[in-house]
Amino acid sequence: MKEFLKDKIFQIISDCADRQGKECYVIGGYVRDIFLQRPSKDIDVVTVGSGIELAQEVAKVLGKHTHLSVFKNFGTAQVKSGNIEVEFVGARKESYRADSRNPIVEDGTLEDDQNRRDFTVNALAICLNKDRFGELVDPFNGQFDMENKILRTPLNPDVTFSDDPLRMMRGIRFATQLGFYLEENTFNAIAKNRERIKIISQERIVDEVNKILLSAKPSRGFVLLDKSGLLELIFPELAALKGIETKEGRGHKDNFEHTITVLDRLSEKSDNLWLRWAALLHDIGKARTKRYDSKLGWTFYNHNVVGERMVQKLFVRMKMPQNEKMKFVQKMVSLHMRPIVLSEEEVTDSAVRRLLFDAGDDIDDLMTLCEADITSKNKEKEKRFLANFQLVREKLKIIEEKDRIRNFQPPIDGQEIMATFNLSPCNLVGELKMAIKDAILDGVIPNEHEAAHQFMMQKAKEMGIVS
Ligand code: CTP
Repeated sequence: MKEFLKDKIFQIISDCADRQGKECYVIGGYVRDIFLQRPSKDIDVVTVGSGIELAQEVAKVLGKHTHLSVFKNFGTAQVKSGNIEVEFVGARKESYRADSRNPIVEDGTLEDDQNRRDFTVNALAICLNKDRFGELVDPFNGQFDMENKILRTPLNPDVTFSDDPLRMMRGIRFATQLGFYLEENTFNAIAKNRERIKIISQERIVDEVNKILLSAKPSRGFVLLDKSGLLELIFPELAALKGIETKEGRGHKDNFEHTITVLDRLSEKSDNLWLRWAALLHDIGKARTKRYDSKLGWTFYNHNVVGERMVQKLFVRMKMPQNEKMKFVQKMVSLHMRPIVLSEEEVTDSAVRRLLFDAGDDIDDLMTLCEADITSKNKEKEKRFLANFQLVREKLKIIEEKDRIRNFQPPIDGQEIMATFNLSPCNLVGELKMAIKDAILDGVIPNEHEAAHQFMMQKAKEMGIVS
């Protein structure tokens, strides 16, 4: 253990704690990550006595370029020096009320402090005092749980989760992020206490969802959210995609299963959080648009358009940023079928140009999403689709090189149209502009000013604007 504590900061904390005659431990995520050999920079230090006093002394010894922040109300202090960040807190005992995440806090022993933590693997402490430097204090056998990848609460899980229901999300997130297993009683307590999630702010829930999404295999998190019953409470739109309905012997695919498969496949290709959100939401409109018709079977007509609208509502409800990130997710949801439709039909230049025009710089992300979306139980069919998809990719490349559509700005704008024909702003200007754009996208004329000008003069004659 000692070799992990070589950093000079631990020596300094150790000296300061001894000078003040305080027991002092590094605890929580930092210790967990030592065992997991994951990089971790936030160090949590707990001391029996005032954490603030210890932080003040450590900051003094570190000297110049050290920043100390004291949070008197919480009894904590933070020391920042270079890229090191240490949080100091006095060991405490906490008791909670039913209606709030904010506990009543009293001073306590190290064991009281370990008791109030979320999981045994997060409750490990390493002593920093000189005579016990590096000693592991592990009253709940967290080391065993670490080795066996088990997430278990130190106390009765009903108490731990009811005290702070965010821990239910954290448990599922750690299981997803670290590939750990929620011990049976711990998992059952999540299911039992799920309604308590309602006292947690949307922002904190979304933080955890984001961490699940950024894991290597996010589906694991969504399956656990579903099985515990949390999904329905935090994400009813996603829960509504579950299940298969059968009519006249015909069923459709389970859109929840499909969605998380697409999410995993996309996650193998991209770390972009917002593209992962788009994968999660790409079929979100399917529950509302599902219809059965004896001739057509199951249809989800316009689910992309409905989905695009739902994205905004969901972002507002979940207090997520309503900025260009949301617009990007909406755009992906709205366009997600376009390349697939192309790969099913003969790929015309005109359709490829229109796709390039609509997707613009997001074309590569859209193609990544679409490729992940090709899932079929029929492996032959999947293979054929994927092969056709390669054709679309190649065609996109050729046409983009030739016609530069990706950031296409029509070579003639409204101002020029008005000046040429002495028009004031009116429908005719819009019609001419659209006709030029369509002619370029359909390959009738090249994407050049001279050709567009000639086309415009011809069109204006046909429309009777000039004789
Ligand atoms: N903790 C807890 N309950 C919470 C949040 C935190 O018991 N709801 C405890 C855990 O012991 C945790 C420590 O506080 O290890 C530090 O919390 P934090 O920095 O939020 O999380 P980490 O465990 O370090 O992990 P991550 O940074 O990935 O969230």
